Amino acid sequence: MKKIKRIGVLTSGGDAPGMNAAVRAVVRTALANDIECIGIRRGWQGLINSDFVPMNRDSVGHILSRGGTILYTARSEEFMTQKGRKKAVATCKMLGLDAIVAIGGDGTFCGALELSRLGVPVVGVPATIDNDVGCTNYTIGFDTACNTAIECIDRLRDTMQSHERCSVVEVMGRNAGFLALYVGIAVGATAVLVPEKELDFEKDVVQRIQDARLAGNTHFMIVVAEGVGSAVEIGKRIEESIGISPRVTVLGHIQRGGSPNARDRETATRMGYCAVNALAEGRANCIIATQEGGIVEIPIEDALARKKHLQMDRYRIMEVMQLGGAVRH
Ligand code: F6P
Repeated sequence: MKKIKRIGVLTSGGDAPGMNAAVRAVVRTALANDIECIGIRRGWQGLINSDFVPMNRDSVGHILSRGGTILYTARSEEFMTQKGRKKAVATCKMLGLDAIVAIGGDGTFCGALELSRLGVPVVGVPATIDNDVGCTNYTIGFDTACNTAIECIDRLRDTMQSHERCSVVEVMGRNAGFLALYVGIAVGATAVLVPEKELDFEKDVVQRIQDARLAGNTHFMIVVAEGVGSAVEIGKRIEESIGISPRVTVLGHIQRGGSPNARDRETATRMGYCAVNALAEGRANCIIATQEGGIVEIPIEDALARKKHLQMDRYRIMEVMQLGGAVRH
């Protein structure tokens, strides 16, 4: 790979707390290596449209603690076409970009792979609240999103407790149950429904509410991953089966906002630093990932092929915590 003199950085797909911290790390590590950095706005679409902004040390001042992304983000249909990607390559040539750092999730990395096949070196940095990128055990934004959901559910619990009600809360996560399960454990949910486990409504919901009631509970918290289906539907089924009227809350995009916490700021900074170091040392077309023992670089194609499974031992922990000692299963 030729010596890198100028790179572009972009954020793409759903935003995640800590994306700004990653942008800051990319810009400052680039400058420390005498590499110029251009911010590409609105993800891959911005690369197609030559939507860019020069970055310097000050452009990334005071953003470490800010949620969202100062570079804006988008999901680009046009970039999925060969014609769109060719326009993106033309922008790279026009701006003299030797490489791109792309911050986002699997969708972003599919784009990165295609761009790398057209000769533009790319390094990916995983950032999504879903934590569903197979090659890395952690994605930027997950911990903050968990904490946001926990804070909301703790509030819901107060009122559910007062009224002795059942709450059904839908959390994000796309097709994965990481957010739901981690949050469910942390709030002591009565039941957690995740797409990775086939739903047995009678056993996973009705029975658990009844067991909790027998154990003396008078309010119930059911956490539903959006990948399972609508929380409203789950609420209706609970009403039909048990005769109680649950209150349904869809947490939605609130989970994506807010100031990143310590873990996300620190991880984003390390990942952004490693991404630029890889380029400065002549390596590209990889995803920066966290694995046991630290940060590694994984070739994009290999990274996209990897699957990460929800830890079902955690599911069991959730089940035991709620009813342990009260009911034997
Ligand atoms: O991937 C992040 C995520 O927030 C998912 O959890 C969710 O399914 C999706 O994005 C929502 O996307 P949008 O912002 O387009 O509604």
